[in-house]
Amino acid sequence: EKNGFDHFMLKEIHEQPKAYRDTIRGRVDESGRKVVLKDLNLTEDRIKQIQNVHIVACGTAYHAGLVGGTVIEQLVRVPVYNDVASEYRYRSPLITPETLVIVVSQSGETADTLAALREAKSNGAHVLAVTNVVGSSIARDADDVLVTLAGPEIAVASTKAYSSQLIAFYLLGLYLAQVRGTQSEDQVAHMISAIQALPEQVESMLENSDAIKAYAEQISHNQHLFFIGRGLDYAVAQEGSLKLKEISYIHSEAYAAGELKHGTLALIEDGIPVIALATQDSVLEKTVSNIKEVKARGADVMVITHEEHVASLLKSVDQAFAIPKTLPLFTPALSVVPLQLLSYYASLALGHDVDKPRNLAKSVTVE
Ligand code: F6R
Repeated sequence: EKNGFDHFMLKEIHEQPKAYRDTIRGRVDESGRKVVLKDLNLTEDRIKQIQNVHIVACGTAYHAGLVGGTVIEQLVRVPVYNDVASEYRYRSPLITPETLVIVVSQSGETADTLAALREAKSNGAHVLAVTNVVGSSIARDADDVLVTLAGPEIAVASTKAYSSQLIAFYLLGLYLAQVRGTQSEDQVAHMISAIQALPEQVESMLENSDAIKAYAEQISHNQHLFFIGRGLDYAVAQEGSLKLKEISYIHSEAYAAGELKHGTLALIEDGIPVIALATQDSVLEKTVSNIKEVKARGADVMVITHEEHVASLLKSVDQAFAIPKTLPLFTPALSVVPLQLLSYYASLALGHDVDKPRNLAKSVTVE
């Protein structure tokens, strides 16, 4: 059932190209220029009335929502608010019928997320669920379901479900933008073709995982490390950090790169690994100066960036790992892959139970 892989997690990492293709299939029209989400109950009129979007979820699904929030804000120019489900409903969130609430849940059974959904519905919001399980409680209670077609995820550490949630958000963002007219037809078509290229790009990354494996073995001896990035890179950094903690039990923290100097820089000392994500060209120079800040304090820096920046970045970092070129909004669907492999191989090197980490359950049905 592991299809020749040693663990479900590795199998599921390798299933991502298929999960992307399945999640895209049927949601782009034949011309390749339009996103079609036929089954949505959310009418075009209601889409035009949306004043704000709340994205609510737990753990890895919350991290997918962070990417989704940026995508929707950029493409649709509507304010988005992200929250973890266990906080959301206790703060009396400002929900109106013009709020679109998106809940994200692989299992569709997470108690806090389900409770957040009910809170949103009782306040008149339209609730759209991004889930991997069609018959789940969350899918049943939501007004709309956008299914991720990742297939069953067995490993406790979520991989293909997270990345398929990103694909769902890309398609949803483009769809909302089409209806509200915030992106031109040509822009939408251009972005669709970039999304369609992602599965093959992930395949090419999976064929070259030796460098990440070696790096994982190297860092597995450390007690602490940091992930840094700006914008979408910060969102992915948070997911990379969670994944590493979850299965390797190595303590790590994800930091917005520009925020380090406001306190956390004090923790940077000789030899501490810092994994920098630098895929967002608009803030590349800023991230490079943050990389220099940690280098100057002795950090051992590995950067994840596009091939074209590797040579120049190698002047300031110790190692670089290149991801294929895509549009800035879509880099998370690629940059998360080396981070998944990093935590997998670190856990493996340490001899932990990769698929069943201590203290954790696949589906969290208690609050
Ligand atoms: C981490 C992980 C958890 C889940 C979280 C929400 O790898 O799997 O953080 O993402 O418990 O679960 P779902 O998505 O089923 O609501």
